Amino acid sequence: MTIPRFRIQCGNSLALMRLLESASIDCVITDPPYSGFEFTGKSSHYRHALLPYLDEIKRCVRDQRIAVSQPEEHIDQVKQELPVSGYAKIDDAFADQRGAAATFLLCNPVSTSDTAAESWRDIPDSSHPNHRDVNKMAAIVKIMSRPGETVLDPFCGSAAIGIACLLLGRNYVGYELDEARAAEAEQRLVTISEVIALNDR
Ligand SMILES: C[S@@+](CC[C@H](N)C(=O)[O-])C[C@H]1O[C@@H](n2cnc3c(N)ncnc32)[C@H](O)[C@@H]1O
Repeated sequence: MTIPRFRIQCGNSLALMRLLESASIDCVITDPPYSGFEFTGKSSHYRHALLPYLDEIKRCVRDQRIAVSQPEEHIDQVKQELPVSGYAKIDDAFADQRGAAATFLLCNPVSTSDTAAESWRDIPDSSHPNHRDVNKMAAIVKIMSRPGETVLDPFCGSAAIGIACLLLGRNYVGYELDEARAAEAEQRLVTISEVIALNDR
Protein backbone atom coordinates (compact mmCIF):
# COMPACT_ATOMS: atom_id res chain seq x y z
CA MET A 1 0.00 0.00 0.00
CA THR A 2 1.22 3.54 -0.72
CA ILE A 3 1.70 5.36 2.58
CA PRO A 4 -0.78 8.25 2.60
CA ARG A 5 0.72 11.72 2.77
CA PHE A 6 -0.12 14.46 5.21
CA ARG A 7 0.66 18.12 5.87
CA ILE A 8 -0.07 20.17 8.98
CA GLN A 9 0.13 23.94 8.70
CA CYS A 10 -0.01 26.24 11.68
CA GLY A 11 -2.01 29.40 11.01
CA ASN A 12 -5.45 30.86 10.45
CA SER A 13 -7.28 28.50 8.14
CA LEU A 14 -9.11 31.35 6.45
CA ALA A 15 -5.82 32.81 5.25
CA LEU A 16 -4.40 29.38 4.41
CA MET A 17 -7.44 28.33 2.38
CA ARG A 18 -7.23 31.55 0.40
CA LEU A 19 -3.87 30.30 -0.89
CA LEU A 20 -5.46 27.18 -2.38
CA GLU A 21 -6.66 26.99 -5.94
CA SER A 22 -10.40 26.65 -6.51
CA ALA A 23 -11.71 23.07 -6.68
CA SER A 24 -8.27 21.70 -5.77
CA ILE A 25 -9.37 19.54 -2.81
CA ASP A 26 -11.42 16.31 -2.99
CA CYS A 27 -13.24 16.69 0.29
CA VAL A 28 -13.43 18.73 3.52
CA ILE A 29 -14.17 17.03 6.84
CA THR A 30 -13.93 19.32 9.82
CA ASP A 31 -14.95 20.01 13.38
CA PRO A 32 -14.91 23.80 13.90
CA PRO A 33 -14.89 25.41 17.34
CA TYR A 34 -18.45 25.68 18.66
CA SER A 35 -17.60 29.03 20.25
CA GLY A 36 -14.55 31.24 20.59
CA PHE A 37 -14.31 32.44 17.01
CA GLU A 38 -13.14 35.96 16.41
CA PHE A 39 -16.44 37.42 15.29
CA THR A 40 -16.35 39.38 12.07
CA GLY A 41 -18.47 42.33 10.97
CA LYS A 42 -21.21 43.82 13.08
CA SER A 43 -22.87 40.60 14.06
CA SER A 44 -21.73 38.44 16.92
CA HIS A 45 -23.79 35.59 15.55
CA TYR A 46 -22.06 32.22 15.27
CA ARG A 47 -23.24 31.75 11.70
CA HIS A 48 -21.68 35.03 10.64
CA ALA A 49 -18.39 34.07 12.28
CA LEU A 50 -18.36 30.77 10.41
CA LEU A 51 -19.56 32.15 7.06
CA PRO A 52 -16.24 33.29 5.59
CA TYR A 53 -14.74 29.88 6.39
CA LEU A 54 -17.66 28.08 4.76
CA ASP A 55 -17.32 30.27 1.67
CA GLU A 56 -13.65 29.36 1.36
CA ILE A 57 -14.37 25.68 1.97
CA LYS A 58 -16.98 25.69 -0.81
CA ARG A 59 -14.53 27.40 -3.17
CA CYS A 60 -11.65 24.96 -2.50
CA VAL A 61 -13.63 21.73 -2.69
CA ARG A 62 -14.43 20.02 -5.94
CA ASP A 63 -18.06 18.76 -6.14
CA GLN A 64 -19.00 20.36 -2.78
CA ARG A 65 -18.12 17.26 -0.77
CA ILE A 66 -18.18 18.66 2.75
CA ALA A 67 -18.83 17.33 6.27
CA VAL A 68 -18.94 19.84 9.14
CA SER A 69 -19.79 19.04 12.73
CA GLN A 70 -22.18 21.37 14.53
CA PRO A 71 -23.87 21.53 17.91
CA GLU A 72 -27.67 21.09 17.84
CA GLU A 73 -28.33 24.79 18.41
CA HIS A 74 -26.43 25.84 15.28
CA ILE A 75 -27.60 23.23 12.79
CA ASP A 76 -30.58 25.20 11.45
CA GLN A 77 -28.46 28.29 10.82
CA VAL A 78 -25.48 26.55 9.28
CA LYS A 79 -27.47 24.26 6.98
CA GLN A 80 -28.67 27.37 5.12
CA GLU A 81 -25.11 27.86 3.90
CA LEU A 82 -24.37 24.34 2.65
CA PRO A 83 -25.95 21.84 0.22
CA VAL A 84 -26.74 19.45 3.11
CA SER A 85 -28.11 16.08 2.06
CA GLY A 86 -27.88 14.17 5.33
CA TYR A 87 -26.69 14.03 8.91
CA ALA A 88 -24.49 11.67 10.87
CA LYS A 89 -24.96 11.76 14.61
CA ILE A 90 -22.09 10.20 16.50
CA ASP A 91 -22.56 9.26 20.13
CA ASP A 92 -19.64 9.49 22.54
CA ALA A 93 -17.75 11.45 19.91
CA PHE A 94 -14.97 12.63 22.22
CA ALA A 95 -12.14 10.25 22.98
CA ASP A 96 -12.26 10.78 26.73
CA GLN A 97 -15.69 12.21 27.56
CA ARG A 98 -18.62 9.85 27.59
CA GLY A 99 -22.06 11.09 26.60
CA ALA A 100 -21.10 13.93 24.26
CA ALA A 101 -22.54 13.54 20.76
CA ALA A 102 -21.50 15.28 17.55
CA THR A 103 -23.67 15.83 14.50
CA PHE A 104 -21.96 16.14 11.13
CA LEU A 105 -23.83 17.93 8.36
CA LEU A 106 -23.10 15.91 5.22
CA CYS A 107 -22.94 17.35 1.70
CA ASN A 108 -22.60 14.92 -1.22
CA PRO A 109 -21.39 11.80 0.63
CA VAL A 110 -19.84 9.10 -1.55
CA SER A 111 -20.64 5.94 0.43
CA THR A 112 -23.69 4.65 2.19
CA SER A 113 -22.50 1.06 2.48
CA ASP A 114 -19.23 1.05 4.41
CA THR A 115 -19.97 3.49 7.23
CA ALA A 116 -19.02 1.62 10.39
CA ALA A 117 -16.76 2.99 13.09
CA GLU A 118 -13.41 1.23 13.45
CA SER A 119 -11.87 -0.41 16.50
CA TRP A 120 -8.19 0.47 16.08
CA ARG A 121 -6.10 0.29 19.21
CA ASP A 122 -2.97 2.16 20.22
CA ILE A 123 -4.02 5.54 18.86
CA PRO A 124 -1.44 8.12 20.07
CA ASP A 125 -2.57 10.15 23.10
CA SER A 126 -3.62 13.77 22.82
CA SER A 127 -3.69 16.66 25.28
CA HIS A 128 -6.26 18.56 23.17
CA PRO A 129 -9.30 19.33 25.39
CA ASN A 130 -11.76 18.38 22.62
CA HIS A 131 -10.02 15.56 20.84
CA ARG A 132 -12.39 13.30 18.99
CA ASP A 133 -12.49 9.53 19.01
CA VAL A 134 -10.43 8.47 15.97
CA ASN A 135 -12.41 5.25 15.56
CA LYS A 136 -15.65 7.19 15.31
CA MET A 137 -14.19 9.78 12.94
CA ALA A 138 -13.36 6.84 10.65
CA ALA A 139 -17.07 6.44 9.91
CA ILE A 140 -17.28 10.01 8.59
CA VAL A 141 -14.09 9.59 6.55
CA LYS A 142 -15.55 6.48 4.88
CA ILE A 143 -18.89 8.16 4.17
CA MET A 144 -17.27 11.21 2.61
CA SER A 145 -14.11 10.12 0.77
CA ARG A 146 -12.41 7.43 -1.26
CA PRO A 147 -8.97 5.85 -0.78
CA GLY A 148 -6.22 7.94 -2.41
CA GLU A 149 -8.16 11.20 -2.16
CA THR A 150 -7.06 14.26 -0.22
CA VAL A 151 -9.12 15.45 2.75
CA LEU A 152 -8.73 19.00 4.07
CA ASP A 153 -9.52 19.76 7.72
CA PRO A 154 -9.30 23.53 8.37
CA PHE A 155 -9.75 23.14 12.17
CA CYS A 156 -7.61 20.10 12.79
CA GLY A 157 -6.99 20.21 16.56
CA SER A 158 -5.34 16.91 17.46
CA ALA A 159 -5.85 15.57 13.92
CA ALA A 160 -8.26 12.82 14.96
CA ILE A 161 -9.81 13.09 11.50
CA GLY A 162 -6.30 13.03 10.01
CA ILE A 163 -5.32 9.83 11.79
CA ALA A 164 -8.51 8.16 10.56
CA CYS A 165 -7.71 9.41 7.04
CA LEU A 166 -4.17 7.94 7.03
CA LEU A 167 -5.34 4.60 8.44
CA LEU A 168 -7.98 4.45 5.71
CA GLY A 169 -5.57 5.35 2.90
CA ARG A 170 -6.59 8.98 2.39
CA ASN A 171 -4.13 11.89 2.23
CA TYR A 172 -4.69 14.67 4.75
CA VAL A 173 -4.08 18.41 5.04
CA GLY A 174 -4.77 19.97 8.45
CA TYR A 175 -4.73 23.63 9.49
CA GLU A 176 -4.48 24.62 13.14
CA LEU A 177 -4.18 28.08 14.68
CA ASP A 178 -2.51 27.03 17.91
CA GLU A 179 1.19 26.23 17.66
CA ALA A 180 1.34 23.60 20.39
CA ARG A 181 -1.73 21.82 19.04
CA ALA A 182 -0.34 21.87 15.52
CA ALA A 183 2.93 20.35 16.80
CA GLU A 184 1.04 17.62 18.64
CA ALA A 185 -1.10 16.88 15.57
CA GLU A 186 2.02 16.59 13.43
CA GLN A 187 3.64 14.21 15.93
CA ARG A 188 0.56 11.98 16.09
CA LEU A 189 0.47 11.74 12.30
CA VAL A 190 4.19 10.93 12.14
CA THR A 191 3.63 8.13 14.67
CA ILE A 192 0.69 6.71 12.72
CA SER A 193 2.60 6.91 9.43
CA GLU A 194 5.42 4.90 11.02
CA VAL A 195 2.92 2.27 12.21
CA ILE A 196 1.38 2.06 8.74
CA ALA A 197 4.85 1.72 7.16
CA LEU A 198 5.82 -1.05 9.62
CA ASN A 199 2.60 -2.99 9.02
CA ASP A 200 3.16 -2.64 5.29
CA ARG A 201 6.53 -4.44 5.34
C1 LIG B 1 -13.19 21.59 18.01
S1 LIG B 1 -11.46 21.72 17.84
C2 LIG B 1 -11.06 20.41 16.71
C3 LIG B 1 -10.89 19.13 17.44
C4 LIG B 1 -10.41 18.02 16.52
N1 LIG B 1 -11.46 17.49 15.68
C5 LIG B 1 -9.80 16.89 17.34
O1 LIG B 1 -10.34 15.77 17.33
O2 LIG B 1 -8.82 17.16 18.03
C6 LIG B 1 -11.25 23.11 16.83
C7 LIG B 1 -9.79 23.51 16.60
O3 LIG B 1 -9.77 24.60 15.68
C8 LIG B 1 -8.71 25.47 16.03
N2 LIG B 1 -9.01 26.76 15.40
C9 LIG B 1 -9.87 27.73 15.82
N3 LIG B 1 -9.93 28.75 14.96
C10 LIG B 1 -9.06 28.43 13.94
C11 LIG B 1 -8.67 29.07 12.74
N4 LIG B 1 -9.18 30.27 12.41
N5 LIG B 1 -7.77 28.47 11.93
C12 LIG B 1 -7.24 27.26 12.27
N6 LIG B 1 -7.58 26.59 13.40
C13 LIG B 1 -8.48 27.17 14.23
C14 LIG B 1 -8.70 25.46 17.55
O4 LIG B 1 -7.43 25.82 18.05
C15 LIG B 1 -9.08 24.01 17.85
O5 LIG B 1 -7.91 23.21 18.05
